[in-house]
Amino acid sequence: MSETNPQRDPADRVLIFDTTLRDGEQSPGISLNKQEKLEIAHQLARLGVDIIEAGFPITSPGDFESVQAIAREVEGPVICGLARTVKQDIDAVWNAVRDAERSRIHMVIATSDIHIERKLQTTREDVIGQVRAAVAHAREYTEDIEFSLEDGSRSDIEYMAEVIHVALEEGASTINVPDTVGYTMPAEYTAMFEALYRLVPGLRDVNLSVHCHDDLGLAVANSLAGLEAGCRQVECSINGLGERAGNASLEEIVMLLRTREPTVGLWTGIDTTEIARTSRLVSRLSGYAVQPNKAIVGRNAFAHESGIHQDGVLKERKTYEIMDPTSVGLRSNSIVLGKHSGRHALRKALEEMGFEIDGQALNVAFKRFKEIADRKKQVTAMDLEALVTDELREDIVGYSLEWFEVESSSRRSPHAKVGVKLPDGTSVTGSFIGDGPIDAIFQAINAATATAPVLSEFTIGAVTEGQDALGEVSVVVELDGATGAGQGVSTDIIDAAGRAYVRALSVAKARAQAPEAIGLPEAAAG
Ligand code: KIV
Ligand code: ZN
Repeated sequence: MSETNPQRDPADRVLIFDTTLRDGEQSPGISLNKQEKLEIAHQLARLGVDIIEAGFPITSPGDFESVQAIAREVEGPVICGLARTVKQDIDAVWNAVRDAERSRIHMVIATSDIHIERKLQTTREDVIGQVRAAVAHAREYTEDIEFSLEDGSRSDIEYMAEVIHVALEEGASTINVPDTVGYTMPAEYTAMFEALYRLVPGLRDVNLSVHCHDDLGLAVANSLAGLEAGCRQVECSINGLGERAGNASLEEIVMLLRTREPTVGLWTGIDTTEIARTSRLVSRLSGYAVQPNKAIVGRNAFAHESGIHQDGVLKERKTYEIMDPTSVGLRSNSIVLGKHSGRHALRKALEEMGFEIDGQALNVAFKRFKEIADRKKQVTAMDLEALVTDELREDIVGYSLEWFEVESSSRRSPHAKVGVKLPDGTSVTGSFIGDGPIDAIFQAINAATATAPVLSEFTIGAVTEGQDALGEVSVVVELDGATGAGQGVSTDIIDAAGRAYVRALSVAKARAQAPEAIGLPEAAAG
């Protein structure tokens, strides 16, 4: 951990504010349940983030409960929830986060003219009044108050200075100026912060924060520009999840600051060896596959294809590698269990990995472990991690794949039959002759559930290397205007695909039926 280095100046410490569970969860098709959010929050705490934005409690009872559960259970980071400048929102956040060791209320209102006039349909004066009342109200609950000026990068600078002045006067302790629509450029964002420091000298006494979206692929560059201008909090998310093109990716910011620390001079408290594991967990639970060439956490981020590069790396790793893969937790895939390992050994291995599993959950995990161990010689830490995360997905309220049969040969079209459990607990069957085995099982699931989603993404990967590796499938479907993402893991790729498909379908169906539970239209917090 970085904190222990005596050479470092505490004034150069950057706070990592993780918004995977709020902005990230607003990505199309992502729908995490309470258990999954808790699992991610525990992992974020292990990673060492400073603040977890756990959700937007007013948007649904489910979101409120998840934020509350995280506040009650997760130790270490400050737990924060988002609110508009509305009393009910602020009260909901406080009620959800108040039981945390340390809690924060985060409020947002737009400050650009286009947002004020068109979206909020109000005036600059009214916004200032709302800011004053909201911060004063939140201050009755806590001293840890963050205020965000939505669409800050497109707002009039003098007006923003006025808004910030009011927020500070009422007691805000962090001011966040987001590039909500991913429009700014590094030099512009730097100039904006420099101007704000000039116009509001009081900003030097509080935390100034960056929050950037990746619409033009500049989220990380813009975040760095803000940090170089003096901000000491960066809002980011695992795998860069977030509205539209996503937020600045946490792993990229953190590894940028670490790798270029001698030049940039900033540092974080993140345990970087937890990065790869956190990325895999979020990818599996969100159903969003990580692109192979994604910086830091992509499958190929440390792969060397050309002979010249391989030769160079074999002679001296630093010829082509600017980071050590083990520093982000890659290539530490120790073998943990064998075919004859028992329930006790499984439980111990899972405990060492940070999973506390008991009772029925342990029975289910053991059953799946045995299925895998029968087919694989050695079960690794990464296999166990994939298996346990896959089981968590079973809690999704919706369809589940009970059984399947797929017959496939080069001489006849593939035929699939499936048994699917419906949300009301009844079982239905379906069959289909498809173009390929995966197409056949997907269409059989459609027949069983009487749905006709459109498959918009399909990715197959392997959890580890080698012929007996577990297969991992990610699927995104669209149904009645709603998107759903799902992932499945199994030694059998058709099984993994079927699991991923029913999960994606369940999420899309739930979202199509209850759009109001996803967010308030006027909240527009991207
Ligand atoms: O992008 C944005 O402006 C946001 C705010 C809520 C910080 O997400
Ligand atoms: Zn955002």
